[in-house]
Amino acid sequence: AMAEKAGYKHFMLKEIFEQPQAITNTVSGRINLESGVVNLPEVGLLPKDLEDIDRIFLVACGTSWHAALVAKYWIEEFARIPVEVDIASEFRYRTLLMNRRVLTVSISQSGETADTLAGIRIARKMGAKILTICNVVGSTMTREADGTIYTHAGPEIGVASTKAFISQLSALFLFSLYLGQIRGTIDGATGKRYGRALIDIATVVAEELPRLQEEIGSLVENYYDSRDFLFIGRGLNFPIALEGALKLKEISYIHAEGYASGELKHGPIALIDKDMPVLALVPRDKVYQKSISNVEEIKARQGRVIVIGTKGDDYLHNITDDVIYMPEVDEVVNPILYTVPAQLLSYQIAVKRGCDVDQPRNLAKSVTVE
Ligand code: G6P
Repeated sequence: AMAEKAGYKHFMLKEIFEQPQAITNTVSGRINLESGVVNLPEVGLLPKDLEDIDRIFLVACGTSWHAALVAKYWIEEFARIPVEVDIASEFRYRTLLMNRRVLTVSISQSGETADTLAGIRIARKMGAKILTICNVVGSTMTREADGTIYTHAGPEIGVASTKAFISQLSALFLFSLYLGQIRGTIDGATGKRYGRALIDIATVVAEELPRLQEEIGSLVENYYDSRDFLFIGRGLNFPIALEGALKLKEISYIHAEGYASGELKHGPIALIDKDMPVLALVPRDKVYQKSISNVEEIKARQGRVIVIGTKGDDYLHNITDDVIYMPEVDEVVNPILYTVPAQLLSYQIAVKRGCDVDQPRNLAKSVTVE
């Protein structure tokens, strides 16, 4: 079994370390390194059809739903198309306003999740075009969609999704860029800059992984026996806070919640005390100042905070002892980068608690029943 895990203690850790390769495999061949122009012939829809789209629904469950939440920001920013994001089990039972100008995109590692599959079947019946972002070749969703963008993460064994999520983000970033380029809502220079940022993020993740593993390892002692945990972020990193909290509850059984930092004051701040640590994602981005104030509000209430921020941002040491620095990258790809420390923290806490990280209780890798 150790051989299958290539020397790693768990599949989950192995898969976290495979993420740079998963990004590269998902991106390569689909983007011109010189011009940043994206090419996705497998989309299965003509550029003309994509020009006519006036709304996009993203439908998914679990971790894949978090990828959808990030993609909403990218698509709206790059391609200027309104996006709705739905949990598949909600989507399938609500009143949907669909027509031929709507594109429905399912996002699924397995391509077999019952609710997501039901969602695209309904959307198709209502005349929407269907695209799927999927990791499993030939799965049911890929057979039923008009087009598939495969995430080339390779087989994922750990029940808690890691490299499949990173690959979904990479594929969705490509798709958002592609839409922006087809629709002319992104200029050549910006397209090139974003394309470059996506290609380069694989190298950045590869370079940072060993250091992060070590630094986070030295933090867990102070946090692993918590009963509750809060994860906060803003903008593109709000969904990453949700994903961080999901990972922690899935594999360590610690109650964790992800929250939009600005929403703290409307409730969860009442919970803050020394027994409710907070992981705050605070990169130097366009909402940086706001994120800092949110962390200061927690500190003022004696909360314990781990801040993940940008290398060189010394101010972070004024608000907490536990800072994990990330290299500065183009802020559009921050969610890809900031996913990694959140995964490692959850992993190490779960290991320290003696949990079966690859096979958490009550969970299945793929949920093919309703
Ligand atoms: C299960 C898995 C999750 C996954 C979700 C959606 O709950 O345990 O890791 O995110 O299903 O799966 P899918 O294959 O559709 O991405």
